[in-house]
Amino acid sequence: MDKFIIEGGHTLTGDVHISGAKNAVLPIMAASLLWPDRYVLHNVPDLRDTHTMAHLLEIIGASISFEAGSMQIDTTACRNPEAPYELVKTMRASFYVLGPLLARFGKCRVSLPGGCNWGPRPVDLHLKAIESLGASISLDSGYILAEGRLRGATIDFDIRSVGATGNALMAAVLAEGETILTNAAEEPEITALAYFLQKMGAQIEGIGTSTLHVRGQKELHGTEDEIVADRIEAGTFLIAGALAGDGVRIAGVCEDHLTLVLHKLEATGTELRRRDGLIEVSRAAEIHPVDIVTTPYPGYPTDLQAQWIALMTQADGSCIVQDNIYRDRFAHVPELIRLGAQIRLEGNAVTVLGPTELIGAPVMSTDIRASASLVLAALAAQGTSEISRVYHLDRGYEAFEKKLAGLGAHIERVPASL
Ligand code: UD1
Repeated sequence: MDKFIIEGGHTLTGDVHISGAKNAVLPIMAASLLWPDRYVLHNVPDLRDTHTMAHLLEIIGASISFEAGSMQIDTTACRNPEAPYELVKTMRASFYVLGPLLARFGKCRVSLPGGCNWGPRPVDLHLKAIESLGASISLDSGYILAEGRLRGATIDFDIRSVGATGNALMAAVLAEGETILTNAAEEPEITALAYFLQKMGAQIEGIGTSTLHVRGQKELHGTEDEIVADRIEAGTFLIAGALAGDGVRIAGVCEDHLTLVLHKLEATGTELRRRDGLIEVSRAAEIHPVDIVTTPYPGYPTDLQAQWIALMTQADGSCIVQDNIYRDRFAHVPELIRLGAQIRLEGNAVTVLGPTELIGAPVMSTDIRASASLVLAALAAQGTSEISRVYHLDRGYEAFEKKLAGLGAHIERVPASL
């Protein structure tokens, strides 16, 4: 397994460009299964997860080519509506194929994802929504068997779920009649999926709000689309700049998707300058402690919680970081403590006592965003850190170490074989 060696204490400066959003491209790729045709996607990030989804689509029968950020998907020859455990267990977003496969084939067999190191992460809301649309669901050797002709329905989600909203939306576009989704997720990635489905010929109203009206269609068609910028990658580089930057210029940021994150950064005293479509970020002389609570969009994203904790280790005072989406998502905390951070975990919140001098150490990645937080902390630490299991990072950050090295970070990937 590859690892990163990072020598901390170097100032970051220069330009970095944000890639297409992982969490937007994955459901959009799944949506191409809805109708047998050809699809072209641009600004596709070259990530482990994009390749996993491509592999899954190929198992189902699609042909795919991916070059220079553009992906061509042909789903005309798809015959196998099945998502095997081997893939779903490595990437939960594989579960997104449930809605499209059921809508197209009238039946499918999709492995249950199983546990995850952020806690249980159930899929009950996905299944309830699909059942409301008229499918019968059963469990067979760890696989969900879904079958039936889909009819429009009103689905009121108990909790705002990105994945369940995406799955229900994809199933509903080919269901007979009208579907209304209430308390639907409003995340920009769901909005991007809804616009993609519209381009395929779906009729959806209320895009960008928590109530979506879908009028089911008999036919859809292939289309071309550009993947929206990754707000979580952008947020990660903004926080890197706030921790160790002196003029980090970030291009390709969709500011509207980061309103609260930018507001929180400003509250820390971080210098943010907008010019020529770029955001330039520099570390404040004194970083103020700022509390955050993660909530569904447009609230503070859980996917930037770990990185915020890394920043707060350098704040002048203590603050509280609470995760209301994934209450157990704190595997990065003991690793940050190994670097010298002072953090107390209680329930679904941590108290970060800053400022602490971070000292390089060997630490271990546990998931995509936790790994990013460890990299950021290592950049701010004195001495050398070794971050193992960076395959987690490779799932969700395109060329992360190359982008950081371009900003002057001393970061090196050591391949597993060495
Ligand atoms: C997506 C993102 C992930 C992000 C998360 C929350 C992708 C590929 N992943 O994950 O990066 O951290 O949104 O913004 O887009 N829940 C249930 N039952 C369900 C589904 C969800 O109880 O059937 C709960 C979850 O445990 C969690 C909350 O709902 O507490 C929100 O989860 P959800 O929005 O579904 O997250 P994902 O779509 O899995």
